[in-house]
Amino acid sequence: MKAIILAGGSGTRLHPCTQALCKQLLPIYDKPMIYYPLSVVMLAGLREVLLITTEADQPLFHRLLGDGAAWGLSLTYAVQPRPEGLAQALTIGRDFLDGGPCCLILGDNLFFGHGLSELLRRGAALRHGGLIYGYRVADPSAYGVVELDAAGRPLGIEEKPAVPRSPYAVPGLYFYGAEVCDDAATLPRGARGEYEITDLNRRLLQRGDLAVELMGRGLAWLDTGTPQGLLEASNLVAALQQRQGLGIACLEEIAFHQGWIDIDAVRRRLAAMGRSPYAAHVAALLHDDLKAVA
Ligand code: G1P
Repeated sequence: MKAIILAGGSGTRLHPCTQALCKQLLPIYDKPMIYYPLSVVMLAGLREVLLITTEADQPLFHRLLGDGAAWGLSLTYAVQPRPEGLAQALTIGRDFLDGGPCCLILGDNLFFGHGLSELLRRGAALRHGGLIYGYRVADPSAYGVVELDAAGRPLGIEEKPAVPRSPYAVPGLYFYGAEVCDDAATLPRGARGEYEITDLNRRLLQRGDLAVELMGRGLAWLDTGTPQGLLEASNLVAALQQRQGLGIACLEEIAFHQGWIDIDAVRRRLAAMGRSPYAAHVAALLHDDLKAVA
């Protein structure tokens, strides 16, 4: 399975200057926002990644992430010229996917918590239809909302309903079988003038091809589309990292534990990093966990 990260320009309620700086490169506490969705696809075991950005932002992402080889990834880039919806990522990424299944994740969604790796590995095993998630939130009306029956089967899915029919928002993380590119290609524009991922998911649901898994309360899903969301995400990462002394979304750690880079590659990365709290996590990793295999 391959992965697509969509880091386009839509759906954000930040100050225009902040948007001009490219939101997904802003730091969430000690590392750029894009590290978090990248860590998710890496935890899913996916190494071939297409990063879709605006044309203006692409060189910035490239300067930060290059071709992904530093983490044992193959990272390629594509442009979404205008913010025309999440489902468009699947038509932009069609050649990249080359008839295979995919994981689609939004560049501004953060996931962290107990059981996340197992959940992601189950998703990455999908070959047909679609798998989306439901996450309980206090106010689902800002999101896609999925309604479930008593057995957990999806009954309906709506985009930003004024009166949500369930408390389950749909996070920006989706797994699809190969055929979904055909569905995305024939999807009409929705009410906002965008190709809505919710319309695509509704089509799969109507065919009986959509599964929904609920994310448990031990998982954190944070959306960073507002100033408050940005602050809450930074605070959560800071609190957990300081308490545990472990790094969240430390790409070197994940790549090493996946067996995609060796200890010398981690050392080289560290040497090029300078001094920062993020570098301190990588250094601690070398000291504690990697010593045994050096
Ligand atoms: C998009 C999707 C929505 C989903 C959300 C997750 O919303 O349309 O269904 O719940 O991402 O972050 P947007 O960011 O376009 O408002």
